[in-house]
Amino acid sequence: MSQMKHIDSIPSHPWKFKMEKSPYHRQRPYSSLVKLTLWSFVFIGLIFMFFFRSSPSSSQVSSNLSRRSFRTSSYGGPVWEKRVKASAKIRSRNGFSVLVTGAAGFVGTHVSAALKRRGDGVLGLDNFNDYYDPSLKRARQALLERTGVYIVEGDINDVTLLKKLFDVVAFTHVMHLAAQAGVRYAMENPSSYVHSNIAGLVSVLEVCKSVNPQPAIVWASSSSVYGLNTKVPFSERDRTDQPASLYAATKKAGEEIAHTYNHIHGLSLTGLRFFTVYGPWGRPDMAYFFFTQDILRGKSIPIFEASNHGTVARDFTYIDDIVKGCLAALDTAEKSTGSGGKKSRPAQLRVYNLGNTSPVPVSDLVSILERLLKVKAKRLVMKLPRNGDVQFTHANISLAQRELGYKPTTDLQTGLKKFVRWYLSYYGNGKKSAQ
Ligand SMILES: NC(=O)c1ccc[n+]([C@@H]2O[C@H](COP(=O)([O-])OP(=O)(O)OC[C@H]3O[C@@H](n4cnc5c(N)ncnc54)[C@H](O)[C@@H]3O)[C@@H](O)[C@H]2O)c1
Ligand SMILES: *[C@@H]1O[C@H](CO)[C@@H](O)[C@H](O)[C@H]1NC(C)=O
Ligand SMILES: *[C@@H]1O[C@H](CO)[C@@H](O)[C@H](O)[C@H]1NC(C)=O
Repeated sequence: MSQMKHIDSIPSHPWKFKMEKSPYHRQRPYSSLVKLTLWSFVFIGLIFMFFFRSSPSSSQVSSNLSRRSFRTSSYGGPVWEKRVKASAKIRSRNGFSVLVTGAAGFVGTHVSAALKRRGDGVLGLDNFNDYYDPSLKRARQALLERTGVYIVEGDINDVTLLKKLFDVVAFTHVMHLAAQAGVRYAMENPSSYVHSNIAGLVSVLEVCKSVNPQPAIVWASSSSVYGLNTKVPFSERDRTDQPASLYAATKKAGEEIAHTYNHIHGLSLTGLRFFTVYGPWGRPDMAYFFFTQDILRGKSIPIFEASNHGTVARDFTYIDDIVKGCLAALDTAEKSTGSGGKKSRPAQLRVYNLGNTSPVPVSDLVSILERLLKVKAKRLVMKLPRNGDVQFTHANISLAQRELGYKPTTDLQTGLKKFVRWYLSYYGNGKKSAQ
């Protein structure tokens, strides 16, 4: 519970710093207050004009954005800026200052902690949405807070906030991990995928292209872009034009959007296709996580099989291996080449698989969990529904190996052991549980 105390000391809405009228405001003479109000109206008016001009195609999105910018125009203040700067301060020679979006997420937390540990400056950004239990995101935030990483609470679609962050810190790199993840949830809430994975990506890239100097960007694509491919292992040169879910389609769209920003604006862009990442502080919506939860509760777990009793398998990749791949991608990223909306020369554009290269049948995953938890699972074999999941994934990682020095070292057995240890210490022996 010491964790909770830590969380409480963090303001959930940083912009409140300025909303609460400071003595500074009260001491101003009346006439300058009037002036200030007038200028504020002009300023807000300009912001409105900007948003209505920049996104005329979707009135819903633009009205959401303008509402947000209205609210967040009060971001900032000396205390807030000091906190942002301290978090992003570089502490090693030749270190980076990295803006990590999705920092309260599973991968974002681990990447942020690793960057901070080696002396890079790190600032997080996350909207703490409730796609899964937000208290887990808060606990990750508290963890990062203890290592000196501050997470600003905001949406990647909030261009005003993003610009403000770049005003305060000249980020050398952006590690863009914020996204609507999950394959099946797209059936329920398709617009959240468009909002975060497409519109959100575009606002991040818009801001990155317009600042000077432009940062280099590394971002999370997904193995799901391989869609219905049957040729294995999946290699970066294989076709990616037959996605099996809206999630996959938005990640594929992201790769194409990245291409245009690289081509027109000279942004250095590296897309990482992660393959089923798992580990401590993981995501409750993923099978290894809720299987653990359900096995401990004595609930039956669905194990999918493809038609003709085909095995469903995943190339499970341990979080520490993924983190090494992310850091190597940042370390090898070249500078962006644009300024003032034009590029001076071609910039780097890369895509890498980050997998483990050894697919494991989901039924084997369950057997490992049974052994680690010392509980027999109630297996319920079912046909793989056609709502986005593919039958198997298998990464060819030779490109990442060659160019990033990427070499995964954790097998599923070892990694799950670490996950289960974390799970039991975080939730207790199944008494308390996720959600
Ligand atoms: N974990 C995997 O197996 C896996 C596999 C392939 C790709 N990916 C990708 O890797 C990235 C990280 O995944 P993860 O597993 O850590 O997921 P996650 O859901 O734990 O983390 C994403 C974080 O982004 C935040 N976020 C979402 N939309 C946002 C928005 N509009 N503005 C600000 N913050 C927002 C969420 O609150 C969350 O904390 C994602 O882009 C995901 O699509 C993950
Ligand atoms: C806009 O906001 C409303 C209410 O807050 C929400 O229901 C809707 O999904 C949002 N639209 C987008 C595109 O984010
Ligand atoms: C893996 O990809 C590389 C190209 O990056 C290719 O040369 C090699 O043949 C592929 N390996 C397999 C087993 O498909």
